[in-house]
Parts: sequence; structure tokens; C-alpha cells
Amino acid sequence: MRVLVLGSGGREHALARALHRDPSVTALHCAPGNPGTAEIADNHQLDPTNRTAVVELAARLRVGLVVIGPEAVLVAGVGDALRKAGIPCFGPDRAAARIEASKAFAKEVMAAAGVPTADSRVCESSGQVEEALDAFGPPYVVKDDGLAAGKGVVVTESRDEALRHADACDRVVVEEYLDGPEVSLFALCDGQHAVPLLPAQDFKRAYDGDEGPNTGGMGAYTPLPWAPPGLVDEVMSTVVQPTVDELRRRETPYVGVLYAGLALTSRGVRVVEFNARFGDPETQVVLDRLATPVATLLQACAIGGLDPSLQLEWLPGAAVTVVVAAEGYPAAPAKGDEITGLEEAAAVEGAYVLHAGTALGGEGRPVANGGRVLNVVGTGPGLAAARAAAYEAASKIGLRGSHHRTDIALKAVSMP
Ligand code: AMP
Ligand code: GLY
Repeated sequence: MRVLVLGSGGREHALARALHRDPSVTALHCAPGNPGTAEIADNHQLDPTNRTAVVELAARLRVGLVVIGPEAVLVAGVGDALRKAGIPCFGPDRAAARIEASKAFAKEVMAAAGVPTADSRVCESSGQVEEALDAFGPPYVVKDDGLAAGKGVVVTESRDEALRHADACDRVVVEEYLDGPEVSLFALCDGQHAVPLLPAQDFKRAYDGDEGPNTGGMGAYTPLPWAPPGLVDEVMSTVVQPTVDELRRRETPYVGVLYAGLALTSRGVRVVEFNARFGDPETQVVLDRLATPVATLLQACAIGGLDPSLQLEWLPGAAVTVVVAAEGYPAAPAKGDEITGLEEAAAVEGAYVLHAGTALGGEGRPVANGGRVLNVVGTGPGLAAARAAAYEAASKIGLRGSHHRTDIALKAVSMP
């Protein structure tokens, strides 16, 4: 099978790595990819949101599968264009991707499908916002209705801060605060059937102890030793399948990965958000553990005929990823600084490094080129070993002003 991956981040490097491991993949291409994917695939410089350019490239490369990474590519309608051209595509059409692109749409689908989520109100004026804030009380949760790369959400005790965020957006969703730990569960969908991957946990805040601003994600781990038994089955039957059924009923079938961001609250499982693509950086750890060849699986979603009773195979042990972020991330990441220690990091047993926001600078040396620069992945027989490998490898990386969280998977490791 010839495969094209769209996107340029750590998630796409992880996807390329997993596809590269699948013996059925005879040619692997990325567009645009990054210096990490260049080591295992052919990179093609193009704007992945350009429908015409993507269809042309996929046709020229005669690929049997296109895998879409970023939400912006889905929202640009690249999935629609590929399917129209008869090219199998893993990633929903623009209409179904609204499950991520519009918080208000996601809420409407959840209400119709009876999916448990936070009570919420869509607000378009400051008067409406003030009313909603007072109805739900603190902590206040205010979400920009549009796409904001995980950064459009403010959770705060301060009513003023909540109001200021709402004022800066056109339309917001104000909602009830959900307590309890968060879990990311990805389900592969073919429009009708869905198969779950391993649940993972992401660390959204910039600094240790869940302090600082929300980011795209500063680290992740899987599996979750503390997750209640039966969690995945429960989420599949109360969240994922009803959502897939509802989108099918609306004639916008969901093909791709449905990412359920969940809170395990004192009152039960609630959906915090849906995303229409693989989570970043959770994918880096989840795909690390997947033993079932991934290309055939994603292609089955793209062309239909995913076997819902399929039991995926997982490697024993655990994976932890630590995001090395550029100076100033998330507000104003510094670009262009040289990265050192990549080989030393990769030489740490059980560890490897995925490129997330890198480019090749002068003399072909890697430099920071985005907020989240590298994803250092550690693996091992258990979370403690995986965590130790990840942090040892991260300590080898040199990047002026960079920062990373030191507490990824720490609580899970410390649990009895
Ligand atoms: P979202 O973009 O909707 O995933 O929100 C980003 C992050 O904000 C989530 O991962 C949560 O940590 C937090 N968050 C979002 N909605 C809520 C909520 N209703 N209650 C508590 N925290 C929330
Ligand atoms: N890790 C969170 C996200 O991908 O949105």
C-alpha cells in the first residue's frame, strides 16, 4: 500500500513511524512532513490545506490511502476533495469535522445523541455571557466557538477574566465546570462502526502542577493504570457509537478518528470536547503501543468495512512522551534556535525523539520552528521505566530557553 500523511507535527511523525513499521506499506510520503519524517518517508513541500494541490499529489503518487493529521486540513475540505477524486482518505469530510470546528455544533450533536457532557449555553453578547456565568458559578469555563488549537478555552475562578475572554471572541460557549481527571480516548471509525484505541492522558497546561496557560498538550502517557475497568466499553456505548450513529443519520458519516476528550467526574463520565483527528501528543504514545499493523486498519476506515469486533493488539508495557517547547511557548514561541543532543537522546535505551516543530537551518542542522519543538518518547515495561527513559532522553536535548514539564505521568507512577 502506498500512503500519504498530511501535516508536519509530532503527531504526523508518530503516524509516519507507525505506518513505516507496517510491512504492507510499500511507499510512504508526507506533505509537508518535517525533518523527522524525512528520515523514513519522502517529504513533499505543499500547503496541506490546498485541496487541489493535495489531490494532484495523491493522484501522482498513486496512493491507496491519505491520512489527515491536522484539523485545519479537515476544515479546509481536503477529505471531501480526496473522496470526490476516488482516493481513500482517513479523516472526515468538512461537515463531520464540525464536531471539532464548532463547539456549538458538537453540543447540538451530543444533545441529539444523548451523549453526557457539561451543561452549556451558546452566547453572542456580554449580557448573555454574564447571565450564563452567574447561572453556572465558578470555576468559570468559557470557550471560543471556533478552532483555536486547544488555546481558545479559559477555565478560571475570576469572573473578570472569563468576561474578558468572552469579549475577545465572536461567539462563545459558557459551560458548567467538570471536576475529575481527564482521559483522551480515540476511536477509529468507518462511518458506521468504531474501534477504540488505548486511553491516554494529556497534560494541557504549560507548567508543572497544571499551572499556567492551556497549550496544545505538554506530554502524555498510556496506559492508564487508574482508569476504572469497563471505562472504554462504557465510552464506546454511551459516547462514541451514539455520536457516529447521529452523524450517519445526518448524512455526514464520520470517517477517521473520533477523539473523545473526557472528564471522569464525581457524577460519571462527561465529554469535555470532541476532536476530529488524532490528539497531539497522545497519538505519540498510543501508536507506540499498537502492535496491529496500522495502515490496513486506517484503510478499512477509509473504504468502509471496519470490523467492529476487531480486537487490536497492544504491546505490553507503557509509553510516556515529554514535549520540549520553545522559549516563550505558548504565547510567543522563539524560532530559529539550534537543537543539540538528538543523537544522544535517541541512544537512551527505550527512548526516541519525534520532531514536532523543527526545520533544518543553515548547514542542515535542526532548529526550532514551532512552539512544541520535540516529543521525547520513553518506553518500558511499566510507566515508571517509560517515564525514566523519557526524562533521561529529554535531559540530553539542548535548546536555548526551552522548557518542558517535569511531572508527566508522575501521579500515575506514584499511585499505589
Ligand atoms: P477543550 O478545548 O474544550 O478541550 O478545553 C481545553 C481544556 O480546558 C480541557 O482539556 C480541560 O482541561 C479544560 N476544560 C474544558 N472544558 C472544561 C469544563 N467544562 N470543565 C473543566 N475544565 C474544562
Ligand atoms: N492533545 C490535545 C489535542 O490534540 O487537542
